[in-house]
Amino acid sequence: MDILKVKVNSINANESFLRSTIGAYCARKNPSIETISDIKTAISEAVTNAIVHGYSNDSTGVIEIDAKIIDDVLFVNVIDYGKGIENVEVAMQDFFTTKGDEERSGLGFTIMSSFMDSIEVVSDPGEGTSVMMSKKLN
Ligand SMILES: Nc1ncnc2c1ncn2[C@@H]1O[C@H](COP(=O)(O)OP(=O)(O)OP(=O)(O)O)[C@@H](O)[C@H]1O
Ligand SMILES: [Mg+2]
Repeated sequence: MDILKVKVNSINANESFLRSTIGAYCARKNPSIETISDIKTAISEAVTNAIVHGYSNDSTGVIEIDAKIIDDVLFVNVIDYGKGIENVEVAMQDFFTTKGDEERSGLGFTIMSSFMDSIEVVSDPGEGTSVMMSKKLN
């Protein structure tokens, strides 16, 4: 068992902070540069969603990352306590976005799904969202 827990505010600076933190955490397993890059990209998409959608850019929101590495597999959970998602199945479809007017393309979940080995999204409107992902590190 090898756990990581981070709790930060929903400010833009924490997108790159969490991205790098997860990269540094996974480095102990010597993953390929491509694997690290895939994981960082997926984390970046999940954290951006929490900031932009979950908290509508309100910096007082809290984002948590819960990660663990078991037998060379990374399990990472990106959690927010923001507005939540009405219909997760619809939200995860390619090109679905509720912010099409703001240069969002609706591909965040598509990227997370294709770059990670698994993804599971649990959300309650008014309660928040949790995005659980896993990826083999080598
Ligand atoms: N953490 C979240 N809280 C609330 N709603 C979310 C959250 N994450 C995603 N969503 C909803 O799911 C939709 C799809 O998310 P996705 O990341 O695929 O696309 P996007 O963020 O709209 O665009 P892009 O990621 O391409 O910039 C969002 O438009 C939003 O309505
Ligand atoms: Mg997105």
